[in-house]
Amino acid sequence: MKSQEIRDRWIKFFENKKHLYVPSASLIPQNPTLLLTNAGMVPFVPYFLGQEKPPSKRAVSIQKCVRVGGKDSDLENIGKTPRHLTFFEMLGNFSFGDYFKEEVIPWSWDLLTNKDYGYGFKPEQLLVSIFEGDDKVSEDKEALDIWHKKVGIPENRILKLGRKDNFWGPPGGISGPCGPCSEIYYDSGDGSEPIEIWNLVFMQYEQFEDGSLKSLPKPNVDTGAGLERIATILQGKQTVFETDLLAPIIKKIKELDIEKSNTKLDLSVKIIADHIRCSAMLIGDGVKPSNLGRGYVLRMLIRRAARYGWLIGLKKPFLSELVSPVKDIFDKAYPQVKESEKQIAEIIETEEKAFAKTLENGLKKFNELVEKYQ
Ligand code: SER
Repeated sequence: MKSQEIRDRWIKFFENKKHLYVPSASLIPQNPTLLLTNAGMVPFVPYFLGQEKPPSKRAVSIQKCVRVGGKDSDLENIGKTPRHLTFFEMLGNFSFGDYFKEEVIPWSWDLLTNKDYGYGFKPEQLLVSIFEGDDKVSEDKEALDIWHKKVGIPENRILKLGRKDNFWGPPGGISGPCGPCSEIYYDSGDGSEPIEIWNLVFMQYEQFEDGSLKSLPKPNVDTGAGLERIATILQGKQTVFETDLLAPIIKKIKELDIEKSNTKLDLSVKIIADHIRCSAMLIGDGVKPSNLGRGYVLRMLIRRAARYGWLIGLKKPFLSELVSPVKDIFDKAYPQVKESEKQIAEIIETEEKAFAKTLENGLKKFNELVEKYQ
């Protein structure tokens, strides 16, 4: 199934259940506790906290997200695992004080397993988890019962996990809405580690800076599923890099003048593909390279991609050539990339050249020193 079809089915499923479709918010969040939008719920925080009235009590979205820096940083995993990315799209559905576990758990199962309007996963390939409880919040018996009795999942396929895995939020780790969650994993059955595809958060608390929790006026639902991970499975691939959301960038990199037998080739190509996708999306949302905050994240991504290019023989600026496949990938979902393609390519090229200059100067200085002390 193509990624656009996955997006369309998601939106349609929840629209049929009276959800308002809310287009992705910018990667630059309104929320001052956050550097970058890192989850689908970020634009909705004021609704969860009861500070603002939502336009609808139910929402569905596909949110652009970046996880670099901070507690959720996935940077070191990129290219090394089959499923981590700095930029990804989070499929989500939300209840602002409306429906709760009784509804959302069976819905998630229906969407994942139905062949006609859903994704057609086989039930025996799915595992779920619930929050096992700790000194602050008790075990989520309700979720356990719904998964077992209502959905019919055998108890040995329902894992009980602790705070690290099954209690989500607040989004920046400091203060804000949070709650116990239930995750759904895909288990290919070939012995590889099950892969988390969807997280259902039962947002019942507000966390304060001192770590204390207070119950929210009404319980909410915040779910998030990884588009690239679902695409990997439904497209019969081993890694996110082989899906239609990244493969065209990889293909383009491989057409460049790279050292084909370099031992770092596979890792470098994946890192470059990930970082250029993320950089293009950040610039598309108005981020500029700088030495501070999100501008620094962008600068670091561009320079890191350039460095991995250098490692595999790409000694001249090449990154701006990769903006075109990024634009094509997001043609339908984010047409704004196309509108700012030229500007994105220019900013990337300027940054890459500045970095090359820094490297060159450093190398010159190094050689001078070597000569002096010989
Ligand atoms: N906020 C939760 C997450 O990021 C679910 O959307 O996993």
